[in-house]
Amino acid sequence: MDRIPTARPSWTDEMRAAAVSTLDSRYWVKGPKGREFGKKFAEHCGALVATPCQNGSSSLWAALRILGVGKGDEVIVPSYTFISSATAIPLAGAEAVFVDVEPDYWCLDVDAVEAAITEKTKAVIGVHIYGQPYDPRLLKLCRERGIYLIEDAAQAHGASQVMMDGSELVAGSMGDLGCFSFFPSKNMAVGGEGGMLTTTVDELTDAVSLVVNHGRSPSLESMQLGSNLRMSEVSAAIGTVQLSHLDSWVRRRREIADIYHQAFADHPLLDTPKVRPGAKHAWHQYCLATENPDELVAHLDHHCIDARRYYVTPCHQQNVFAKHPQHGQVLPVTATLSSSLVAIPVMHELKDDEIERIIAAVMSFSVLQH
Ligand SMILES: Cc1ncc(COP(=O)(O)O)c(C=O)c1O
Repeated sequence: MDRIPTARPSWTDEMRAAAVSTLDSRYWVKGPKGREFGKKFAEHCGALVATPCQNGSSSLWAALRILGVGKGDEVIVPSYTFISSATAIPLAGAEAVFVDVEPDYWCLDVDAVEAAITEKTKAVIGVHIYGQPYDPRLLKLCRERGIYLIEDAAQAHGASQVMMDGSELVAGSMGDLGCFSFFPSKNMAVGGEGGMLTTTVDELTDAVSLVVNHGRSPSLESMQLGSNLRMSEVSAAIGTVQLSHLDSWVRRRREIADIYHQAFADHPLLDTPKVRPGAKHAWHQYCLATENPDELVAHLDHHCIDARRYYVTPCHQQNVFAKHPQHGQVLPVTATLSSSLVAIPVMHELKDDEIERIIAAVMSFSVLQH
């Protein structure tokens, strides 16, 4: 029986042709493919500009740099996320303030964010975890309190959310600066490492374009602190083709998630994930909640299906934050999610017979067997 992986990035003749023709052009860096990819990505998510960069982690660091976040500043972040959402903050010289997440939707708890704001708070990093958009009240709160909102959309390509004013915003335009990753397992990829930085703020558009290239203006003078965070032309060419398929790929993820919701609704040992009202979830991951996560992973493994537990140790309790004042603190919802969620395959390339195999295997899960 073939093993079903948790990720299967698309690789087609169209992508291969885009990669090869870019290599053949010998225009490998700082060229038209990167500009085209950025322009199309900005159009897709409704941002003013978007700049391709090396990866999601460097886009987060760049966002903090652009906002001038550094020594003496605090940045609020969830602890239930990938580690680089949090480590970007000390890398920029600032202090991370960890806040718990919502029990239903797993993104930052806006009331807890409000309670954590101090006069030192310069920014909030909101994470659209597993493709679920964060609470739209977060944007309102940040605007009211004069705090920047950085959107960690690394898992949310193609997600959208109806906001407080009734408008529907796509991930990448739900904050001041948006950060994406194109790691191969993500909803779209670039054939290697990659990321994207977006902005919705007029005054930040130049900075977003310049930060990936040493902050240099067209006259080659460095206007701001930056570095070489550029994406290669070949990755940008692949990314542009992948972007043209993103909407249909995310639709397929939603279709699979709907099939799973129905199939698992009455399973006695599993809870299915909830979707925030007004959200179009991007289903980067489909996570089931169970009191026996390791047993579920082992059970699926036995059926040749890969399943994963993510963020088993919350960020603030990892060794890198051993000296952080919150290291010993228990964030109750974060702790529950860390000890109960299991992600099963939901990628757009799943075939119908694989979906059936996954459903049959999950439905046959019973703790008594183990
Ligand atoms: C929520 C989140 N933020 C940031 C990143 C970092 O992206 P990258 O691996 O491209 O550096 C990831 C990647 O997994 C992520 O899931």
